Amino acid sequence: MTHTATPPATDGQEPKQQPSFEEQLSAQAILISDRDYLVNQHCAQLGVDQSDVFAKTRVYSGVIDSLRQHGIMQYGVPIESPPGPTVTMEFFGEKRTMIMLASNDYLNLSTDPRVHEAIQRCLKDYGVGAGSSRVGTGYSYMHRLLEEKLAHSFGKEAALLFPTGFDAIAAPARCLLTKDDRVLIDSSSHACILEGAQSCGATVRVFAHNSPDRLESTLQRARNKDPRSGILVIVEGAYSMDGDVARLPEILKLCRQYGARLLVDEAHSIGVHGDKGHGVCEKFGLSSEVDIIGGTFSKSLGATGGFLAADKDVITYFNYISKKIIFSAALPPLLIAGVSAALDIMENDSSLRERLWDNVRYLANGLRQVGARLMGTETASVPVLIANDSIMFRFTQDLIREGIFTFPAVYPTVPKNKSVFRLALQSRHEKQDLDHVIEVFDRLLGKYGAKAPAN
Ligand SMILES: Cc1ncc(COP(=O)(O)O)c(C=O)c1O
Repeated sequence: MTHTATPPATDGQEPKQQPSFEEQLSAQAILISDRDYLVNQHCAQLGVDQSDVFAKTRVYSGVIDSLRQHGIMQYGVPIESPPGPTVTMEFFGEKRTMIMLASNDYLNLSTDPRVHEAIQRCLKDYGVGAGSSRVGTGYSYMHRLLEEKLAHSFGKEAALLFPTGFDAIAAPARCLLTKDDRVLIDSSSHACILEGAQSCGATVRVFAHNSPDRLESTLQRARNKDPRSGILVIVEGAYSMDGDVARLPEILKLCRQYGARLLVDEAHSIGVHGDKGHGVCEKFGLSSEVDIIGGTFSKSLGATGGFLAADKDVITYFNYISKKIIFSAALPPLLIAGVSAALDIMENDSSLRERLWDNVRYLANGLRQVGARLMGTETASVPVLIANDSIMFRFTQDLIREGIFTFPAVYPTVPKNKSVFRLALQSRHEKQDLDHVIEVFDRLLGKYGAKAPAN
C-alpha cells in the first residue's frame, strides 16, 4: 500500500481544497526528513494503525516511491565516476555528466595523489581496520601523532579523534552538561549540534542566527534564572546555508562576560578560512581562546572522521566519558595516514584555497549580475535564495536537465519560504562550467520569477 501527502476527506465538514501538486511535493519533502512529523501528523491523519512498528516504514516508502515517480528524488543517487567537479550520474533513464555543486570536498583532497600515496603506504604496513575502540586496542602511534598534530595546528593542548564529525560535535554537550545546565545554540545549527543539545538533558535555548544581541539576551535570561547553572554556547565557524561566518569576537566576549564555555564547529571552515586553513578561529586569531574547537575530516580534508581540540583536562575527560570513543571502533589507520597527508597539504599548499576562493567569487559575481538573490558570500558555498518553496522541485529538475547537480534546501532544513540552492564550490571547478551555471540560473530564475527585484 502506498500513501501520498493528500489529506483524507472529512465527513460533514466543508471539503478541504485539495493541495496543489507543488504543495504535496513540499509536504512530502518534509516527510522524508522529519520522522516525528511523519509519525505524529502524517500517519495520524491517514489513520495508520501504528501498533506494528514497521507501519511507518510502509507509509514512508510510499512517499519515496511517489517522489521517484515524479523524478524528483535526488537524495542518494549513486555516482558512477570518481568524485570531482564533474561526475557521472543517472537521471531520466540515462547517464549524464553533471557539474557537481553539492560536494563538500572543497579542496579536492579526496582524489589528491599525495593523499593516495600516503594511504597506500599505510595499507601495506597496517592493513585496514583499527580492530577496536580508541580506549581499547584501536589506538596506534599514528592516531597519537595525528592528535598531536591537530592540537598543535588548532592552538590547543590536546586533541581527540572521533569516528565522525557528527559524533565529535555532539559529544561536548552530552559529556559536560546535566539537567541543571543550559546549552545555547544558533538557529541555523547543523543536526549534530541539535542532537547533542537535545539528548544531553540540559535546557536548550536557540538564539537568532549569528546575532550577538540575541545571544546576549539569552545569556542574560539564563544567568538571571540560575546564576549557578553551567552554560555551553555552540556555534559553527561558517554557515554554509547562510553563507556567513560566525561573529566570533563578539560571541567569545559575551561567553566570557557571562561565564559560559564556547564550542566552535569548524566543519565548513577548515580548509577554507584562516591563513593555514584552520578555520574561523584562526581567521580571527582566537584559536587559543575559544574553549573547544571541533571539526570533521569529511569536507575539505576529503575523508571521514572528526575531532575535538581543547585543554588537556577536557580532552582526557571526553576520552573516557564519550560513549562514541569507548564503544565505537577507532578510525582505520589508513584513513589516519590520508588525513595527516591532507592536513599537511592544506596547511602548506595555499594554491588550493586560492583557487577555491577565486571560484567562489567568480560564481557569486556572475550570479549577482544575472539577478540572483545571494545570501552571504563568505563561505565555500554560494547560497542562492529562492524563497518560494513551491517551485524548488521543478527548478531542481530543470537544473538536472541542464547538467547541474545540487540539492534543494527546503523546510525543515531551512525555515519555511527561505528555500535556497546551496552551490558548493571546489578548487578544481572550471570557469567554463561556472559560466554554464550562471547562464542556466539566469534563465531559470527568470522562468520562475525568482530574481531579485530591480532597484
Ligand atoms: C556543520 C556540520 N557539522 C558537523 C557535520 C558532521 O560531519 P561528519 O560528516 O564528519 O559526520 C556536518 C556534516 O554535514 C556539518 O555540516
